[in-house]
Amino acid sequence: MKARLHLEKDFVVGEVDKRLFSSFIEHLGRAVYGGIYEPGHPQADSHGFRRDVLQLVRELRVPLVRYPGGNFVSSFLWEDSVGPVEKRPRRLDLAWRSVESNAFGLNEFVAWSREAGVETMMALNLGTRGLDAASNLVEYCNHPGGSYWSDLRRSHGVAQPHNIRLWCLGNELDGSWQVGQKTPDEYGRLAYETAKAIKLFDPTLEVVAVGSSNRGMPTFPQWEATVLDHCYDKVDYLSLHEYYRNEPDDLPTFLANSVGMDRFIRSVVATCDFVQAKKRSTKPMYLSFDEWNVWFHSNAHDRKVEPWTEAPPLLEDVYTFEDALVVGTLLNTLIRHADRVKIACLAQLVNVIAPILSRTGGPAWRQTIYWPFLHASLYGRGTSLAVRVDVPTYDNKAFGDVPYLDVSAVLAPEGEALTVFAVNRHPTETLSIDLTAGGWGPFTTLEHLALHHDDPKATNTEASPDTVAPVRSLSALRAGELPRLSAGPLSWNVYRLGAG
Ligand code: AHR
Repeated sequence: MKARLHLEKDFVVGEVDKRLFSSFIEHLGRAVYGGIYEPGHPQADSHGFRRDVLQLVRELRVPLVRYPGGNFVSSFLWEDSVGPVEKRPRRLDLAWRSVESNAFGLNEFVAWSREAGVETMMALNLGTRGLDAASNLVEYCNHPGGSYWSDLRRSHGVAQPHNIRLWCLGNELDGSWQVGQKTPDEYGRLAYETAKAIKLFDPTLEVVAVGSSNRGMPTFPQWEATVLDHCYDKVDYLSLHEYYRNEPDDLPTFLANSVGMDRFIRSVVATCDFVQAKKRSTKPMYLSFDEWNVWFHSNAHDRKVEPWTEAPPLLEDVYTFEDALVVGTLLNTLIRHADRVKIACLAQLVNVIAPILSRTGGPAWRQTIYWPFLHASLYGRGTSLAVRVDVPTYDNKAFGDVPYLDVSAVLAPEGEALTVFAVNRHPTETLSIDLTAGGWGPFTTLEHLALHHDDPKATNTEASPDTVAPVRSLSALRAGELPRLSAGPLSWNVYRLGAG
């Protein structure tokens, strides 16, 4: 089977914001306790941070981590999580019906972030709380000193402000499962007033308003239109969330989910532009896809978990090779929308629907989805280019015509390397790809990273952590020679072309 790709150096979609490769840590299951934090673990440092997990997070070069939720944040009292640990209250977390010890809190998270080399995207509780608690938290985190909340932080041993630049105005407040669900008018007003207070404190801080919890919500996209009617002028980003599942087991449909993600992004962009036009505004609204991933493997197990325990194993999806392919197509979709999607968080980072799994008291290892995320994070920074794709399609009941090859292309910041990411969705055929590119001198080298396994259900486990791992090949190109790209059946591919 043949595919043709054509791109031009000057046909730019947009700059890829490095925050497209962000992630998420929620107080949920073993993400924090047994994940990033486990005092007494042989790999723990003096703060109780697991060095083995830190090492894998650093390898991923995640630039930004959303914290502390998620559903958790909508009934979270942030004051519980600061100050002397022995005085912190134990609380029932209504979202996940677990016990939160507060042994790890806000200041510990920021200290961990520094170790991991990531920035914090802090979510505010706009479910059970409001403007007051939110602005107190901003002052606690960001004011240097000489005020009640900043001095409280200093009294907790944190002299320097955290200087957190990005704030989420709540989480999934359209959802019936959310503690403190709101109507779009209630939420839109609250988001406006909270954003206003944050910008009065510091106009350079950025805020994200809550969009629909997924494309299937009955209130989508009216929720977006109403919320933005209230707060368009005060907010910088609108959020999108979506998780993908392979139930019933149907690989061609599962692999086509990125078509749904693409339509979701287009609809949200259209809704934002509609409100922009209504308001005669010159300001574009950018998007923050701050929760996305595959999530379904753990659902049956989680229904049986005893409530009101500490750090129970929840949402511990063990990812298959086919999940990694879907994650690859979702990354391609985000890159293709780099002009409007500026932030995206793979949900989540460790143990909870995550690229990294760790056993409490045991080792940490890379799941299958780790690999496409790593490759995109390493080689997907730069300029997203439009790709003209000519490729056979298959007919799918849920998504219509689906191309067998899913592609994105990124020109490295220094302009000398072009990376093409491609997923071959065909179950049996190798795709031979003709690539033509205008605006470059001849390519001189070709590196090919490929992820494939004969069994789509293959997983990486503690006993066998490298079952699904990429292979690399490198070739030099002769003058005038066109690069020969080939993508095996069911494969994730990274082609890195060097010029000059
Ligand atoms: O990431 C898991 C959960 O999914 C988050 O807590 C919530 O925001 C979403 O529904």
